[in-house]
Amino acid sequence: MKIALIGYGKMGKMVEMAAKSKGYSITAIIDPHLENNIITKDSVNTADVCIDFTNPSSALDNIKALASLGKNIVMGTTGWYNDIDGVKRIVEQANIGFLYSPNFSIGVALFLEIVSQAAALISPFDAYDVGGYEIHHSQKADFPSGTAKAISQRLLSNIPRKKEVIYQINHKILPDQIHFTCLRNGSTPGTHSVSFDSPADTITLTHTARSREGFALGAIQAAEWLNGKKGFFTLDDMLL
Ligand SMILES: NC(=O)c1ccc[n+]([C@@H]2O[C@H](COP(=O)([O-])OP(=O)(O)OC[C@H]3O[C@@H](n4cnc5c(N)ncnc54)[C@H](OP(=O)(O)O)[C@@H]3O)[C@@H](O)[C@H]2O)c1
Repeated sequence: MKIALIGYGKMGKMVEMAAKSKGYSITAIIDPHLENNIITKDSVNTADVCIDFTNPSSALDNIKALASLGKNIVMGTTGWYNDIDGVKRIVEQANIGFLYSPNFSIGVALFLEIVSQAAALISPFDAYDVGGYEIHHSQKADFPSGTAKAISQRLLSNIPRKKEVIYQINHKILPDQIHFTCLRNGSTPGTHSVSFDSPADTITLTHTARSREGFALGAIQAAEWLNGKKGFFTLDDMLL
């Protein structure tokens, strides 16, 4: 498989290492800090799959540019999800393959399932409130993390007495709200935690990424799966 890397920051470099460790060739690296700084037909021509880890403000333009060239895309960049319906249309019109996930770690995919099942079990027990937090390095551009939003969705779907997730509060939390807070600090690659709290005890579920390697390996697995496919996919389509 031939891969083009869009974005050569912390994740792009990790993905390059993961790709090489599996024997795949990197046919293009595009980043504003390099000579090759723009997506063109020539630059990505030979790639089977393009893997994007850039930033939220570049994501949509990159998707449009790669789709117009008929390239399959693994989208690791977060923070563009308000445009998701438009992206689905772009993918359909261009007849390409597109897979995105706010978190390519297989452990996080499992964690989301664990959170769903725990929330469903705890839901009938009104004594248990639910809350959460995420921690990321201080360079992260978006908040809350895409993974925090995915966790929040799982909680709302499985606990009907909760109607809304609040990421920033300036008032007392209401009984039908879930508070999910964000901390930006140092170099943390990504921690997500959910706790179910009653007057008697607390049940806590936490996923802690040790490095970015898990995200990079997951993105390569996604590229392997997406190669030659057409359609709009999430990581769940690959895993479940
Ligand atoms: N899905 C996952 O599993 C996962 C895991 C980790 C991170 N992420 C997300 O992935 C994204 C990148 O994270 P990172 O830690 O690698 O960030 P980073 O270290 O800041 O690297 C991003 C790189 O992309 C460059 N870039 C910006 N716009 C570009 C464009 N249009 N074309 C090509 N390159 C462009 C940036 O250049 P400038 O410095 O000039 O902007 C920078 O060099 C973030 O959205 C982050 O939240 C996702």
